Amino acid sequence: NNQRSGSRGALIVLEGLDRSGKTSQSCRLLSYLEGLGHPVESWRFPDRNTGVGQMISAYLANKSQLDDHAIHLLFSANRWEKRSLMESKLRSGTTLIVDRYSFSGVAFSSAKGLDFEWCKAPEMGLLAPDLVLYLEIPPEKAAERGGYGGERYEQLELQKKVARSYQMLYDASWKAIDASLPIEDVEKQLREMVLDCVTTCQKGKALSNLWS
Ligand code: TMP
Repeated sequence: NNQRSGSRGALIVLEGLDRSGKTSQSCRLLSYLEGLGHPVESWRFPDRNTGVGQMISAYLANKSQLDDHAIHLLFSANRWEKRSLMESKLRSGTTLIVDRYSFSGVAFSSAKGLDFEWCKAPEMGLLAPDLVLYLEIPPEKAAERGGYGGERYEQLELQKKVARSYQMLYDASWKAIDASLPIEDVEKQLREMVLDCVTTCQKGKALSNLWS
């Protein structure tokens, strides 16, 4: 029992271009960890259920216009409004599988032309993930997948720039997986990496903040 032993949950983030398979894989990881008896929740950003999240959702659906800096800060605020809940979940032993996080914030806004360091600044002090799983897929291949093009950022030229921005964020906590492989193959690789991370956190790895 995680609660009793006082060990914390892991903060695991999935990142990647639109249509790279993050959402399907986070569902699969959730069931996998649940099946093993681990306390686990699946989260996503933007969290469209909050007031801020509804503003973001309207913007993504092209129902509202906002300055690029303003929407960037809303995405960040949407993470800040969940920070304390995130920390208490992790400390009480629950692992969080998070579909997109600060890296999406920086990658998308900097791809639109905003300064890279400016984009990182409002993310500083949010919880740092224990593991970032990067679902790597050629932008052209993602664009062929169903459902592409429905929202504001689902355009090939922008996604190519997003891929380059993601490369600049890559660090030791990242693992890249070839997301053009069949869904089960990707899942198999992710399971191993996630289990490893959950174990490391149970053993007492400290929580830390972005970007330090
Ligand atoms: P979703 O399709 O995963 O719900 O994400 C919606 C879009 O928002 C997606 O194109 C990526 C973009 N995005 C940002 O631009 N900044 C952010 O901070 C996040 C979390 C997502």
